[in-house]
Parts: sequence; structure tokens; C-alpha cells
Amino acid sequence: MVIKPRLKGGLALTNHPIGAKEFVKRQIDYVKSQDKYKGPKKVLIIGSSSGYGLATRISLAFGAGAETIGVAFEKGIEGKRTGSAGWWNTIAFDEAAEKEGLKYKNFIGDAFSFEMKDDVIKFIKEEFGGKIDLLIYSLASGVRTDPIDGVTYRSALKSTTKEITGPTINFEKETMEETTMGVATPEEIKSTIKVMGGEDWKLWIEALDKGGVLSEGFKTVAYSYLGPKVTYGIYKEGTIGAAKRDLEHTSDVLNDFLKEKYNGEAYVSLSKALMTKASAVIPIFPLYAALLYKVMKEKGIHEGTIQQKHRLLTQMVYGNHPVIDDERRLRPDNWEMREDVQAEVEALWDKITPENFKEISDYAGAREEFMQLNGFDFDNVDYDADLDLEELAKLRP
Ligand code: NAD
Ligand code: NA
Repeated sequence: MVIKPRLKGGLALTNHPIGAKEFVKRQIDYVKSQDKYKGPKKVLIIGSSSGYGLATRISLAFGAGAETIGVAFEKGIEGKRTGSAGWWNTIAFDEAAEKEGLKYKNFIGDAFSFEMKDDVIKFIKEEFGGKIDLLIYSLASGVRTDPIDGVTYRSALKSTTKEITGPTINFEKETMEETTMGVATPEEIKSTIKVMGGEDWKLWIEALDKGGVLSEGFKTVAYSYLGPKVTYGIYKEGTIGAAKRDLEHTSDVLNDFLKEKYNGEAYVSLSKALMTKASAVIPIFPLYAALLYKVMKEKGIHEGTIQQKHRLLTQMVYGNHPVIDDERRLRPDNWEMREDVQAEVEALWDKITPENFKEISDYAGAREEFMQLNGFDFDNVDYDADLDLEELAKLRP
């Protein structure tokens, strides 16, 4: 079967397994082109299959020689469905790790469940040397079933202040269009906090602690976003922002607990805006990203997912140059948030129209990144190749 890209708005309906290999390889190549670093030996990554979690795993494995356990929710080939991007990314990671003799293990399923926590802890005890030094929490999900009350919560991408209308990119139609973000009900705010707040991160730490699998000096980092003024309405002051503030509060609670018991640490890291599966569907966000790329590339300070996470790990979490704000948050978004960068983004934002957006923004760069998330638009992959889906279906992460 020949797999072609098929989009629906900010969603990709198809994924290319060979392109995913290239997607992962380029990130590995970047890490290998940099100095090796002394980091953790045993790592658990929740949300390991794409975006920031995958990049983190690649940096830790190929840069610091870490053994990694990845947890992700992904699907393989089913009938005419070509499998999810994270499925193929994980298989590509496995193949590369195997070649280097790097130990890894994947758990594909629901990280929010108690069952998953039990399975991972059992594995750590029986086959992973008994302890982990680092937990990365990089989940992005629209739905969570609370394992305690059994209720399924859905997150809403809505405003908490007033209805907001603004431009965004439609990658399917290649147009700039107006989107409207409605106002969330109190229920919707609560549900979004349930899904994307800190509750599940805390449940993981509690389960791992009870299981006796945390090492002395154990660290945990959860990924968050804040963003600048132009996105405040949709992000900082949106339902997702409310959930992220909850995550940040949780980091303080966990930090106190871990410090006391393990001489450990818990942090939230505010990352740079990037195109990922999760961010591509946030209203207004893709257009902001395209403008940001334009400005940051011109200034020579643009980072992709892997550069951003590699800098966080080598300079901040395992280095001597942490950028930390007065709310104890790690700030690898410091270049995005620079005043000169934001001033230029704002000036472009005021000028942008549906007619000029491709020239004014780095539309091409943002679109390429979006396509590459799904294994498309690599210049060295043959997209006319007839892939043997039956053979590919035998592969498992
Ligand atoms: P992503 O969609 O690329 O990755 C999400 C990961 O979560 C995937 O590995 C997916 O399999 C996993 N996942 C989702 N539901 C799951 C479940 N129920 N059980 C197990 N795994 C599940 O998203 P991303 O952009 O890399 O986001 C990761 C984190 O980084 C999020 O907290 C996000 O807010 C944060 N972040 C993203 C950006 C950005 O611009 N993309 C910026 C700053 C921070
Ligand atoms: Na991720």
C-alpha cells in the first residue's frame, strides 16, 4: 500500500512508518552530534511516543546512555488504518536503541489507570534493577478516567474569561481562518484540570513510592506551557492554563515530599511552543507558532523539539545552568519569551491577513514540522513506495 497524507483540520488521519523512522533518526543524529552528558541511569517517561516526551527519551538514551521505560497510548495497523504516529516512532526508537545496546521497555496503554502503574512498578522491581532515578511526565490527552471514582472526564479547549475570536492556520486547506473559542462552564474547567492537571502525576509518584522503586536523589519533571501575551486568552487564561497551574501547584507538593524522603526534586518545565499532535489542535496556536518560528529563525535561536529538550536536560536538569523563575519553574522557554522576540511577533500579528500569512510567517516551516510529525515531507523518504502492511503489522513497540 502507498500511504499518502490525509488531513482533517489539525489532525492527521494517516501516518508513514518509514517517515517515522526518519523523524526519529534525525533526532538521534542531533543528540549524537552533541557531547555526551552525565544524566540518570534509569528513567520512566509517561507520554514517551511523540512530541516532547519522545525527544526527552532520545536525549536521555542516546546522550546519557539511560535505560528507558516508555508509557504511551498508541495504536498499530487496523484494517485500513495505518497506525498512529507514536506507534511508529516507538518502533523506530526501539530499533535504534537495540542497535546501540540501550535497554528499553514500552507499555502501550492508559497511563491514567492503576493497572498501568502496577504493571510498570512490577517491571521495575523484577526486570529493571529495582529503582528509577527520573520520571518525566509528558502526557497530553483529551480524556481521563479517574481510577478512584471511575468517572471519565473530558478536557475542553476553552476560554475562562470571554469568548475569543482570532486567526489560526488550517493545515488541511492551507488557509488562515478565524476561530472562535467559547467560554468554559465551571464544569468544563474542572474536567480539564482533572485531565491535564497534576492529579495523575501525583498518583504516579505515590504508587512508585509505595512500591519502593524510587532511588535516593530521584527527580521528576512535568512539562507545561505558559506562553506570551498574544496567546494569554487561549492558553494562560484558558481551561488548559488552569490545568497547567494545577500541575505547577502539584510540583511544589511533590517537591516537599521527595526532598524530605529521598533528597529528591520535582519541577515543572515551561517549554517552547512547537508543533505537536497536541498543540496543532489548539485554536490560534499554529499561527502563533508560525510567526514565532519566523522571528526565532531570523535571530538564529529557533529550536525544534529535540534541541529544546536536550538543552533542558544538559543545561538545567543535569547541568549547572538552570533558568528558574521566582515560582520555581524551569524556563527553557526563555528564548521564546525574550522581549525582542515577542515585540516582533506582536508586530507581525498586527499585520497578518489571510492573503499574506504565508509570506509574513514561517508557514512553510510550521507546515513541514506538522507533516513530519506524521512521517511525511522528508526529502529522503520514498513516498511512492508500496509498503507491505502485513509485514509492518507484525511489528510491535
Ligand atoms: P504529544 O501529543 O506529542 O504527546 C503526548 C503523549 O502522551 C504521547 O506519547 C501519547 O501517546 C501520550 N498519551 C496520551 N494519552 C495517554 C494515556 N491515556 N496513556 C498513556 N499515554 C498517553 O504532545 P506534546 O506536545 O509533546 O505534549 C507533551 C507535554 O508537553 C504536554 O504536557 C504539553 O502541554 C507540554 N508542552 C507542549 C508544548 C507544545 O508547544 N507542543 C509546549 C510546552 C509544553
Ligand atoms: Na510527549
